[in-house]
Amino acid sequence: MILVSGGAGFIGANFILDWLAGDDEIILNLDLLTYAGNLETLASLRDDPRHVFVQGDICDRALVDRLLATYRPRAIVHFAAESHVDRSIHGPGDFVRTNVEGTFTLLEAARAHHASLDAAEQAAFRFLHVSTDEVYGSLGTDDPAFAETKAYEPNSPYSASKAASDHLVRAWHHTYGLPVLTTNCSNNYGPRQFPEKLIPLMIVNALAGKPLPVYGDGLNVRDWLYVTDHCAAIREVLARGTPGEIYNIGGWNEKTNIDIVRGVCALLDELRPSADGSHARLITHVTDRPGHDRRYAIDARKIERELGWRPAETFDSGIRKTVQWYLDNPQWVADVQSGAYRDWVAANYGTRGQAA
Ligand code: NAD
Ligand code: DAU
Repeated sequence: MILVSGGAGFIGANFILDWLAGDDEIILNLDLLTYAGNLETLASLRDDPRHVFVQGDICDRALVDRLLATYRPRAIVHFAAESHVDRSIHGPGDFVRTNVEGTFTLLEAARAHHASLDAAEQAAFRFLHVSTDEVYGSLGTDDPAFAETKAYEPNSPYSASKAASDHLVRAWHHTYGLPVLTTNCSNNYGPRQFPEKLIPLMIVNALAGKPLPVYGDGLNVRDWLYVTDHCAAIREVLARGTPGEIYNIGGWNEKTNIDIVRGVCALLDELRPSADGSHARLITHVTDRPGHDRRYAIDARKIERELGWRPAETFDSGIRKTVQWYLDNPQWVADVQSGAYRDWVAANYGTRGQAA
């Protein structure tokens, strides 16, 4: 079996659903169920013995030790994190705790577990750390895309905490010989993403007739990858990646935020037209995010060349599936928009003035 941390979040849950659709190897899912974790996303696995769920904290060393000793997984795939940049600006402490201390705790527990395995099991064991392109910092318009050799220049509390965790993972390989793999991926989108991130936020706001808050001039650029393509890349790295190596994952799909938002509006105009006119009428430029990185772009040639991975979705096919999923799952959306979600919306957008 494999241990997945953070498997009730957006990418972790998609990873588990994809894994069990094609494989019977059991997944032990350790997730604290913070605001971002949602077991409803995994409701289809409720009676499936291949999914073992444990609610718990990756910072809880005794719990992690107990799980490793009981289940003896052959790999750990580490998704659990605080993942939202805006929240890291409002409250960086949780990010240092979960992303840095939590990764440290998992690494130490994995090191002890690895030492307890026999030689063949040790050789097969992997610790796969799921990280982000944000650790590389911000690119200018003409800069080359991020390769694995790019120096780290994190700019937000979120990316700084992920950068710290990447460095710990690297050190546990070089110092202790733990067979680690690190993936640094660009912006994911797709079904089951919490509506605090750009694309799902725009879909649910547009459907509710609420303003679509675009930070600053809307010309920041992100590289977008459909979530199941990220999951497939992680499976490839886990199966065939070289321990100690880093793999950058991206969709060769750079877009400005304003183009993303206009595209979502155009799809909604087609699939769920509004009597009040195009959803684009709701676009509102608001005060920019502090320290807002201008551009990310991923050079994915290493994983393509060495592991033969390529994205299966184009942006057009992926964004259509995504919008359709949110239209088809209003109850999931209503359930995650709890009191805590409304508090966050008030904290992040209530004081954000309209941009001139
Ligand atoms: P998410 O915020 O949707 O989910 C995070 C999950 O981790 C939640 O289920 C939460 O309950 C759990 N969690 C948080 N703190 C925990 C703790 N202390 N112990 C146990 N579980 C805890 O995040 P996501 O978007 O699915 O991202 C998953 C990983 O992928 C993160 O490490 C993130 O940095 C990385 N990543 C995300 C993106 C993206 O675009 N979303 C891109 C590249 C990399
Ligand atoms: O690049 C990978 C990263 O992508 C992941 O590591 C993070 O976990 C993930 O959250 C994401 O970070 P971003 O900050 O790029 O994602 P977000 O969806 O928050 O914002 C995308 C862009 O849209 C960014 O330039 C900010 C802008 N934005 C975002 C929100 C929430 C807006 O203009 N308005 C908004 O309301």
